[in-house]
Amino acid sequence: MFSLFQLTSFGLFFVFSSVHSETPSTMSVGRSPRSATHLVHHLDASPLMVAADVIDAISFKTTEILLSEYLWQQTQQYHIQALQSGFVHGIRSASLDPEGFGGFMLQDSVFCYEASNNIAIAESNATDPFIKQFLQEKFQAYQDYYQALIHTWHIENVSGIKLGQACSAYIAHEHDVAMNYNSVYFVVALIPCAKLWPWIGQQIAADTGNFGVYTKWVQENFSPDSSGVTKYETLINNAEAQGVINRNEALEIYTKSMMGEVNFFSSIKTIMVDSGNGSSNKYVSKERQYALTFLLCIIWLVVQPMVVTIDDTFTKTFERYEYLNVGLNADLTK
Ligand SMILES: *[C@@H]1O[C@H](CO)[C@@H](O)[C@H](O)[C@H]1NC(C)=O
Ligand SMILES: *[C@@H]1O[C@H](CO)[C@@H](O)[C@H](O)[C@H]1NC(C)=O
Ligand SMILES: *[C@@H]1O[C@H](CO)[C@@H](O)[C@H](O)[C@H]1NC(C)=O
Repeated sequence: MFSLFQLTSFGLFFVFSSVHSETPSTMSVGRSPRSATHLVHHLDASPLMVAADVIDAISFKTTEILLSEYLWQQTQQYHIQALQSGFVHGIRSASLDPEGFGGFMLQDSVFCYEASNNIAIAESNATDPFIKQFLQEKFQAYQDYYQALIHTWHIENVSGIKLGQACSAYIAHEHDVAMNYNSVYFVVALIPCAKLWPWIGQQIAADTGNFGVYTKWVQENFSPDSSGVTKYETLINNAEAQGVINRNEALEIYTKSMMGEVNFFSSIKTIMVDSGNGSSNKYVSKERQYALTFLLCIIWLVVQPMVVTIDDTFTKTFERYEYLNVGLNADLTK
């Protein structure tokens, strides 16, 4: 027979082991082309990479904050929101619901497929041969990645995957930029992801931290190295200086991409605490799990002596009752 004491100990053991178990990972399809910037060297020879020395001839004031810095500063609140989103928090605390991770990767394969189509449109519109070349390479990288993803997830093709609203809106935004703007703006639209992910990586110490099964994914995708982004930024800064792009339009496009990141991350299902209600979407962080364990330990320390006493009293009473009963029966049979 299990006593209350044994059951409580067993429960605590269970909580401890669930908190401390961590498994190394081998699952990976490599780095997403969304945050990777290794193809940026194709832009090196673009006239837009060479700072204009006739800059302020028209309207540009050299004292003004650089476009790239302006865009990053103006979207600061979204960086924080991305960092605090369920997806990033879940990954960071190694407690992201596997279904949430799967849901993100499936939608991301459609996102990358659609992005490759949009890149192809932007590429066909590009007049700068270096941007054209860069977009061609980018197109191939997105194609390769989405194909690797659907292979990994056993998907025949992307038309069977249903997107959430956040991912659809992000795709529609990139389509709009590809269709209606100078291709330099497509580079503007790519920067938020390329800059946000390394920034997140920096905040969570992506290259040294332990994120359980997500460690490899974090190291590849949230790598804090942002040297490639700096080149994108040089390109758009010069493009503004040369009057090729407009600050307000750039801000609108940049902000929509940044919000695309935040909303996509935030739409992902994380660990449920409130079972029995499928619509709740709360995550349990590692810190909370430790706090819960600690609380349970305290309760256990307080309750355990009482349980032993109650157990003891109960057993004694029971034995006494049995004894009396036996005695009574014996009397009755007399
Ligand atoms: C997906 O497969 C179906 C059936 O083979 C085909 O009709 C459809 O065009 C494919 N979609 C894409 C996006 O490749
Ligand atoms: C870009 O290309 C698409 C498809 O080729 C075309 O419909 C659109 O008008 C072009 N946009 C610009 C701004 O050149
Ligand atoms: C689940 O949660 C939602 C929102 O918090 C609430 O409206 C709903 O009544 C809950 N359903 C159940 C079965 O508890």
